[in-house]
Amino acid sequence: MRILIAGSNGMLGNDLKEVLQDKHELILTTSKTMDITNKNHTIDFISNEKPDIVINSAAYTDVDGCEENQDVAYAVNGKGVKNLALACRAVDCPLVHISTDYIFNGKNDRPWVENDEADPISVYGKSKLKGEEAILEILDKFFIVRTAWLYGVNGRNFPKTMLELAENHSEITVVYDEIGTPTYAMDLANAISQLIETDFYGIYHITNSGSCSWCEFARYIFEVANVDVNVIPVTASEFARAAPRPSYSVLKNKTWVENGFKPLRSYKDAISEYIGLIK
Ligand SMILES: NC(=O)c1ccc[n+]([C@@H]2O[C@H](COP(=O)([O-])OP(=O)(O)OC[C@H]3O[C@@H](n4cnc5c(N)ncnc54)[C@H](OP(=O)(O)O)[C@@H]3O)[C@@H](O)[C@H]2O)c1
Repeated sequence: MRILIAGSNGMLGNDLKEVLQDKHELILTTSKTMDITNKNHTIDFISNEKPDIVINSAAYTDVDGCEENQDVAYAVNGKGVKNLALACRAVDCPLVHISTDYIFNGKNDRPWVENDEADPISVYGKSKLKGEEAILEILDKFFIVRTAWLYGVNGRNFPKTMLELAENHSEITVVYDEIGTPTYAMDLANAISQLIETDFYGIYHITNSGSCSWCEFARYIFEVANVDVNVIPVTASEFARAAPRPSYSVLKNKTWVENGFKPLRSYKDAISEYIGLIK
């Protein structure tokens, strides 16, 4: 297939490249070559390239930055996605779009399923929901893939930050009252490569299996990396950040499993492999 990847320089974008490049012809775009906030350019670019499918891994992902730069958040995560949907409609190709657990409010006592009501509590979550809504309105052929707590070999992420902090701190405070599922970008990229071989369109939750708090995740990272550091649990309210986060955002991978795909491996197995790669 001829696959156009928007946001190919990002953390997930890089892993998508690696997973898809042997089997497919890739058209890799960045914010410089195809700024998705530019409607006419995005539609023209995709009309000229005529891909079989577009994967959108581009987003404004700075969750705290979104609170301050609301215009940018809505321009990229809302309008930008709408522009991509319009472009895909113009060439009649499906769109794979990556969304987030942060479209939920976090007030749940069981994992969220795909048709649970979205009720984002941050600008990032609200802007990402706008993107989903635009796709639902414009396209019939789409995969909206909500994932969570991503980390990968490229770019900044929680495991890298923890390991860097541990180099010159003996104690690290980490939030314990936010529960989710850390997800390895390479595992997500592999899942997406399976999904695009089908026409099982719709909304998907795709994460590694299991769940934990940030604090448990940090402790597990240090255990696997064999690093001696004292992890001190704090509440989210004690740990000042600009954007509120959902306290419980575990995503049940219901549609994924119902459509016959194998559940992703546990987050513990995934992070163990990842640490082996980056250490
Ligand atoms: N990171 C997480 O924990 C997490 C969790 C859940 C869901 N997600 C979602 O997963 C997806 C991938 O996230 P990620 O962590 O891989 O993101 P990332 O590393 O921040 O990469 C995002 C990419 O988007 C591109 N971009 C930004 N503005 C753009 C614009 N106007 N036009 C075109 N490209 C633009 C940037 O491109 P340039 O480098 O070319 O400027 C950047 O490389 C996003 O949709 C995100 O919302 C992430």
